[in-house]
Amino acid sequence: MALNIRQLTPVFAAEITGVDLRAPLDDETFATIRDAFHTHAVLAFPDQHLDDDQQTKFSERFGALERSIAETISANPVVYHLANVDDEGALLKPDDPKRMILEGNKAWHTDSSFKVVPAMVSLLSAREVPPEGGETEYADMRAAYDALDDNKKRDLEDAIGLHSFAYSQGQLGTGALTGDELDALPPVEHPMIRTHPANGRKALYIGRHASHIVGRLVEESRTLLGELLAFATQPQFTYRHEWRVGDLVMWDNRSVLHRGRPWDESRYRRVMHRTTVAGEAADNPWRVDAAAE
Ligand SMILES: [Fe+2]
Repeated sequence: MALNIRQLTPVFAAEITGVDLRAPLDDETFATIRDAFHTHAVLAFPDQHLDDDQQTKFSERFGALERSIAETISANPVVYHLANVDDEGALLKPDDPKRMILEGNKAWHTDSSFKVVPAMVSLLSAREVPPEGGETEYADMRAAYDALDDNKKRDLEDAIGLHSFAYSQGQLGTGALTGDELDALPPVEHPMIRTHPANGRKALYIGRHASHIVGRLVEESRTLLGELLAFATQPQFTYRHEWRVGDLVMWDNRSVLHRGRPWDESRYRRVMHRTTVAGEAADNPWRVDAAAE
């Protein structure tokens, strides 16, 4: 079986065929996939049909996994079910707290940027998909950074963004998390320009959890964040993935933003299972192998 890599847009994202992710990968095949991942930042693997155990094992090749933020959101700390159905398989009611989280996913973001050590990689597999809508869009923050003018690059070089789950959820309303769960997620600071450790490419690090820029006027910096987001998500920097059951798509949260597109949630089921590779810091409290507090 020959591994085939096909780039999906002029700037990023690739489809990989000719590999079966259900079985353990030899080191050479894995290294090819990892290198392609660092180059393209989004990889789509059609027709994989992974179960949770297979998805977990493949994800762990990239590093220790990250646990979910709250039991109210995911009973399984490692495999997060992004679904508009409850545990019995019925469509979620409009007032279900999980709906709030699904709503949040529809705005451009990078996964868990509100954590002290954000997620490195997210892997999403399609278990049930609606007949229309429900796509995921990605935007390449490396290409967007490259396209900024030099003045803007200089202005942002040392800028620090403040990322806050309470802020981003507050934009939607409240109720998804308990007070204690929110207390465990204080605002955190991250550089607005991050350099990828594997290839040295710089990328914008923004998205819906970014509340404002540290040391600048809040409203002014929110305006700037909004302008940057609009610039960075222009069509020439984006890829839209139309899901088919069995797809696995993985993305590099250090390099891209993403958002889910709407679908008719009152009629159609959409069930996706996500695993997340934790950021590499050794003291990352969100790694599943970190001591529970
Ligand atoms: Fe996400």
